[in-house]
Amino acid sequence: MAAQVKFLDTTLRDGEQSAGIGMTVDEKLQIARQLGRLKVDIIEAGFAASSPGDFQAVQRIAEDVQGPIICSLSRAVAGDVDAAWGAIKSAEKPRIHVFLSSSEIHQMHQLRKDREDVMTMAVDMVARARGYCEDVEFSPMDATRTNPDYLYRMLEEVIKVGATTINIADTVGYAIPSDFQTLLKDIQRNVAGIENVTLSVHCHNDLGLAVSNSLAAIEVGARQVEGCINGIGERAGNASLEEIIMALDTRKDLFGVELGVDTTQLYPSSRLVSRITGMNVQANKAIVGENAFRHASGIHQDGVLKDRSTYEVMKPERVGLPPDVQLVLGKLSGRAGLQARLEALGYSLTREEVTSVYERFVELADKKNEVTDRDLEILMDEENRTASEPISYSLETVHFTSGDKDIPTATVRLIGPDGNAKTDASTGNGPVDAVCRAIDRVIGTTARISDFQVQAVSEGRDSVGSVSIRVENNGRMFSGRGANTDIIVASAHAYLSAMNRMLAADEEAELPAVGTTPD
Ligand code: KIV
Ligand code: ZN
Repeated sequence: MAAQVKFLDTTLRDGEQSAGIGMTVDEKLQIARQLGRLKVDIIEAGFAASSPGDFQAVQRIAEDVQGPIICSLSRAVAGDVDAAWGAIKSAEKPRIHVFLSSSEIHQMHQLRKDREDVMTMAVDMVARARGYCEDVEFSPMDATRTNPDYLYRMLEEVIKVGATTINIADTVGYAIPSDFQTLLKDIQRNVAGIENVTLSVHCHNDLGLAVSNSLAAIEVGARQVEGCINGIGERAGNASLEEIIMALDTRKDLFGVELGVDTTQLYPSSRLVSRITGMNVQANKAIVGENAFRHASGIHQDGVLKDRSTYEVMKPERVGLPPDVQLVLGKLSGRAGLQARLEALGYSLTREEVTSVYERFVELADKKNEVTDRDLEILMDEENRTASEPISYSLETVHFTSGDKDIPTATVRLIGPDGNAKTDASTGNGPVDAVCRAIDRVIGTTARISDFQVQAVSEGRDSVGSVSIRVENNGRMFSGRGANTDIIVASAHAYLSAMNRMLAADEEAELPAVGTTPD
């Protein structure tokens, strides 16, 4: 039987380390459930010791997601290992992933520790993790810039105390496929016991080679690869999981390995991660980019119309791309048409859910001629978000005036936690500022907007605008999203959703609401 390659998805851990990304616990859970549908082998759910929020996210995922192994990252320190175990112990299949720098550069300049002390830390903490859990991964960080003899010895020692997966980390994306293969072959020749553990690789994309290096590693015997959906991650990102998976699937003739993943869940996974993280996928991105299966030149179009294989090496449906639109969705469409299209996009809905989405759909179709797939994704996103989000205040109406000679003014009417409506108004620097200030006045708190992004969901002047907002209050960050054909209304929803999260966090911590109403 052909060997199997396992996939460790680290979108929720290394992916979250991308500059500017911050996900809530609910958003992480949504992604983890989707990774479960994709059938990745291992979900690295977070770094439990890094913050209470991360601990909670790992714990919720461990309790909720069945199928994949659920893993928490851990530095080689006792408190981290204990926290990792605390967060994952209820998982069906738990794993602790201990990492420690092996290169001289890191040990000298960052850890500022003697190499033998570092060796002891690695051994002690892998042994501690093994005391909790049968499945322990060890990563020598910056392995590709490490003295090979020291690296072999470190790996041999951690295997002796129970590491079950050894993950060679190209932390700074320094490797080139041929020299990465040499390193892996040397490890297999020189490390006693390596044949009894899973050899894994974790490649970063600083030189644009993360996927190539991962594939090169599989060619010489690596049987676990780590990566992120859409290739997100620290700096230039991690290896893009969808690219590795489809290379192995498309060139089975060459690699001859088995995969347990459901490739048709790749596109829905990519869309979900992009929406939640706010990181757009470039149009020409392999596998999941908007242009990945689009043909522009006349010669190519002619070929594809005769037979798609002339210019496509894989079928779009293999990666879960929805089939071409046969029906145009608009205000005359019924529930059946909507449900069929949502199913083609990878959503499975109960009858009640369809009814609830249909209401939003009709509202949107009243404002837009044609409701596109992207619009539907936003509708579903809003639906999932409002179902899982803490709601203290909801927006009943928002009214604003603005213009090049006017003072921007907004009035909002919110329904409060007691069910009563409250109205207030404010001026501002612009209509968005006026709306946010009016909301602040009603709820009696304020926060600083640290990031504000508006995106047109589809083409055309009637496009839905999707707004992502991040607010800061007392050193804590809260994010919110909103969508509407009017971007000021979308901004009101996004700001209110961030404020609701802040109020819920205050309540949880039993803190008095922080901040005062601006005058
Ligand atoms: O890049 C890296 O070295 C890591 C380790 C924690 C595996 O992310
Ligand atoms: Zn990494």
